[in-house]
Amino acid sequence: MCGIVGYIGHREAYPIVIKGLKRLEYRGYDSAGLMLYDGENLKISKTKGKVSDLEEKSNLDITINGTIGIGHTRWATHGVPNDVNSHPHVSNSGDLCIVHNGIIENYEPIKKELIKRGYVFSSDTDTEVLVNLIEEVQKKENLKLGKAVQVALNQVVGAYAICVFDKKKPDEIVVARLGSPLAIGVGENEFFIASDATPFIEYTSNAIYLEDEEMAIVRLAKPLKIRRIKDDQLVDPYIQELQMNLEQIEKGGYDHFMLKEIYEQPNVIKDTYRGRLHANTGLIQMSGIEDNLDKFLNADRILIIACGTSWHAGLVAEYVIEEFTRIPVEVEYASEFRYRNPIITSKDIVIAISQSGETADTLAAIKLAKEKGAFVFGVCNVVGSSISRETHAGAYTHAGPEIGVASTKAFTTQITVLTMMALRLAKAKGTLSTSDYFRYLQELELIPEKVTETLETNDIAKKIASIYKDASNCLYLGRGYNFPVALEGALKLKEISYIHAEGYPAAEMKHGPIALIDEKMPVIVIAPKQGHYDKVVSNIQEIKSRSGKIIAIVTKGDSQVKELADHVIEIPETSDALSPLLTTIPLQLLSYHIAVLRGCNVDQPRNLAKSVTVE
Ligand code: F6R
Repeated sequence: MCGIVGYIGHREAYPIVIKGLKRLEYRGYDSAGLMLYDGENLKISKTKGKVSDLEEKSNLDITINGTIGIGHTRWATHGVPNDVNSHPHVSNSGDLCIVHNGIIENYEPIKKELIKRGYVFSSDTDTEVLVNLIEEVQKKENLKLGKAVQVALNQVVGAYAICVFDKKKPDEIVVARLGSPLAIGVGENEFFIASDATPFIEYTSNAIYLEDEEMAIVRLAKPLKIRRIKDDQLVDPYIQELQMNLEQIEKGGYDHFMLKEIYEQPNVIKDTYRGRLHANTGLIQMSGIEDNLDKFLNADRILIIACGTSWHAGLVAEYVIEEFTRIPVEVEYASEFRYRNPIITSKDIVIAISQSGETADTLAAIKLAKEKGAFVFGVCNVVGSSISRETHAGAYTHAGPEIGVASTKAFTTQITVLTMMALRLAKAKGTLSTSDYFRYLQELELIPEKVTETLETNDIAKKIASIYKDASNCLYLGRGYNFPVALEGALKLKEISYIHAEGYPAAEMKHGPIALIDEKMPVIVIAPKQGHYDKVVSNIQEIKSRSGKIIAIVTKGDSQVKELADHVIEIPETSDALSPLLTTIPLQLLSYHIAVLRGCNVDQPRNLAKSVTVE
């Protein structure tokens, strides 16, 4: 959470910082701020609100020039979102300026100590404590900025990605990371610093991703030096060539990133299986699996850890992996797993799923599983992310940058990867008949065109949205493979439209939730032809007899549910196990249109952030 940007070079820093912050706004958007250095003065502008508010305010607050700048877009952890708590924060002398993504957990005792030494604080933030601690170290030990940052960071507990600038040393920015991502773009006599590479993609495709506990002094006309914070050891910088392009991170004619990303699903699912799935020859080639096949085949069980939407993909995978491979699977919220002293052995395989690859709870759960001897396999979208580096092996989804805060294409591509893994293991174990195995491969290959066909339901979804946009509550029901889809549908609606929604296994309804049903309650029922169709039809009848409003997702040509439901959305036929890849689509569209009609900020819903790098 929080996005940080920095620039040092020969260009005007302001446009780079502002545009960079806009690209990082998905990481937090309750306040924003920046500092420019014009060769003499630190010029600071900050405000509660969005980067566009900062842009307006900066024009009034400061003269916009300078070739060095740092900026921040915030997701509040300490202190309410207001102008004072916004970053950057300046040290008491007025010389040091910092932007920070993360949390300093032991800030209180440090603050007390600094107050005793005469420091005063204007904000409630942990970050203002950190910048003054650096200043205190600098003064007390007469150190240069880089060394002072290092000494100070060795005294703090918590997580950080920071950029620090010192007016007395104006040819450098000191950066460091622990637990929060930080990329350095390397240009011709210029450097870009950012929480991810999107702010500098049009300037350079050379990037260095700092590892945890590393820091760098980014200095003009000098080679970049990276050091380990703990023991000061020099680390060879590894420059990576970015594969991302500008088009991928722009809206491309869509009103919102979320809609663009929903519509990208046919292509990104194809990108995810391209080169891996060979339906004609019956081959699935995933190097992360091939290299570790024995481990998977000898595993006592598979434990899946994830959060939010990725956890829902894990639930779908539980059904698919158990069905195809007969390996027992358990799915856990990463946040619970890490704090309950879980029983893990070296015969367990842990699969960690994460779009961003930066989720703090998932990362901590991975570290715990590794400590206990498990083999950890990552399913991540962001190449080079912390989770992809922390895991023993893995498989990337190829969803491309997901910018809308509500996850859409990440979910379907995660399911695609996990289904391919299940099929590969089933083949090796002989737990699927050859004909079933080939059938699934062929059906999976057809999914992108079926998703394209499903996207044609957009107008119907929009019409249904206009009828139910003012609902206060909503129920989502599904069975089997589509129970996790019901959970995901409810989460999508909650997070972007702020309508209370719950997902349930359809049969659980009679054990409580049925009490909620009346003529005002929209109930979205996922009822494809394959699977437990007859049982779901009975559940629909139970809702109907209590006057609930039924919106059903059905297979094309269905007539039975059509008779009962108030509205139906038809999807193409596929096998039960692959149906989540299709049933999810109309639920995404429905949530999207309801949120738009309610005037909600679809891409940046309140209180949320895309990358949850705090516990
Ligand atoms: C919901 C959503 C979140 C994320 C969750 C995990 O739309 O995006 O629930 O799925 O925060 O994030 P990752 O997958 O990045 O670990």
